[in-house]
Amino acid sequence: MNITGKTLIAGVMGWPVAHSRSPQLHGFWLKYYGIDGAYIPLPVDPKNLATALSALPAMGFRGANLTVPHKQAGFNFLDDVDSAAEHIGAVNTIIVGPGGRLRGINTDAYGFIENIKDGAPDLAFNAGKILILGAGGAARAVCVALLEAGATDIVLCNRSRARAEALAARLTASHAKIICADWASRTERLDGAKLVVNTTSLGMVGQPPLEIDLSALAGDAVVNDIVYTPLETQLLVQARAKGCIAIDGLGMLLHQARPAFAQWFGVDPAVTPELRRHVLTLNSDSMS
Ligand code: ATR
Repeated sequence: MNITGKTLIAGVMGWPVAHSRSPQLHGFWLKYYGIDGAYIPLPVDPKNLATALSALPAMGFRGANLTVPHKQAGFNFLDDVDSAAEHIGAVNTIIVGPGGRLRGINTDAYGFIENIKDGAPDLAFNAGKILILGAGGAARAVCVALLEAGATDIVLCNRSRARAEALAARLTASHAKIICADWASRTERLDGAKLVVNTTSLGMVGQPPLEIDLSALAGDAVVNDIVYTPLETQLLVQARAKGCIAIDGLGMLLHQARPAFAQWFGVDPAVTPELRRHVLTLNSDSMS
């Protein structure tokens, strides 16, 4: 890489930030498209977030991603945010605009939908029940995405029912029925579901398994796991064994990066098998 005074620069702010795979992801695209750009990890202590954000335009950055723990705090220091960020309650991408204005957007919902469309192009989001396991930050982005895509029937199934109810109350959708179900009923709730999404951390390396029996699930349902370490979770293995379309979580990570790259570097990049292989060859620490 040959960095010059004309190089377009972006980065990712996190604390810690070493685990982020965004530098490898954006780095792959910059090289692939032959763009004079650089994308760097920016370790930013939470107490310095305001200073670091205001330095982006001052130092000529195109923008930055925000990762843990800055996704909520970032809201306080931006000039404006898009509706996805507002609904999700988190900002994952910052774009430096004219006059140094800082615009915050959230691309997680976009990444989720693009991943599902890649894996199940014929799935109609408004054609039946969608079961979401979990009610944390990831579930919020998934629900916002699904409602935006026209979903009309969502069941939120979470260990802490109060958290599911709080999420349902936050989601504004006049056209959709959103109900909450007990965690213990997750297996029965599969009956009639067209799409099942695991947004919990269960099944991830180092976490307990997701215990669920897919017997009640139709063979033409689509199953997606947000977890991508491992790539092939037990949930996806079970779903494939039933003949269901099983979609792993890596695509969401890759697709959510596209709008940011397009804004900063001027090219809408493609998610390709080559990119997937590149990200998968990173060592396991980088994938956590
Ligand atoms: P994220 O931002 O990645 O969604 P989170 O907000 O911590 O992370 O949410 C984690 C989700 O996994 C929650 O839905 C959590 O359930 P609770 O709301 O009841 O905590 C779920 N989860 C984590 N460990 C779990 C477990 N052992 N059994 C069931 N659900 C679990």
